[in-house]
Amino acid sequence: MNHLLSPSILTADFANLQRDIDMLNQSEGDWIHVDVMDGVFVPNISFGFAVIKAIKKYAQKPLDVHLMIVDPDRYLEEFKSAGADGITVHYEACMHLNRTVNKIKELGCRAGVAINPHTPVAVLDDIIEDLDMVLIMSVNPGFGAQKFIPNTYKKIADLKKLSATRNPDVYIEIDGGVDESNAAKLISTGANVLVAGNAVFSAADPKNAISRLKHIS
Ligand code: DX5
Ligand code: ZN
Repeated sequence: MNHLLSPSILTADFANLQRDIDMLNQSEGDWIHVDVMDGVFVPNISFGFAVIKAIKKYAQKPLDVHLMIVDPDRYLEEFKSAGADGITVHYEACMHLNRTVNKIKELGCRAGVAINPHTPVAVLDDIIEDLDMVLIMSVNPGFGAQKFIPNTYKKIADLKKLSATRNPDVYIEIDGGVDESNAAKLISTGANVLVAGNAVFSAADPKNAISRLKHIS
């Protein structure tokens, strides 16, 4: 399967958000990655419903919403009505993950679970069949433009093993420090969705950077 690319809006120019969304619409990116941070689960605050609704108004691609917030259950409906097409919650932030995942699916969204760099893939053993996507954090969540953690490759291999017979179609998304230096190896190890913030928006030509990341193999 060809990999998908989910450019992260976190690194966009918020004073020119409509311009950057237009660029993403015209690009070869597949989804738009939307990072929500609450200042509690991660040491940073990004944006909330009003901004997601504004993004949705112009976006012509599915919104891949990554919730870095504690107790996400409280807000799932609101994220759905703000425009989320996929909702990813953190394993570390959910007391009753099975319930949360089912709720996301009931809302008609693709259900993803994210794991932090120190969280082993094995914790997903009893939920892997229920997931549409696993997001492996390849940096500690909270900020864009951080350095990629190489142990990610081992985790992708672990996840490939875990999902091989029990959920072979699960999306394996990698988030943090993805760029042209590691994308090919991530894909050959088994990733099929790449998030890229800094590698896209700090490039001289972001649309071209998306194209290069999309065609890398
Ligand atoms: C980090 C976020 C990422 C971030 C990736 O906490 O979850 O989605 O936007 O940005 P880069 O690609 O710059 O590491
Ligand atoms: Zn993210």
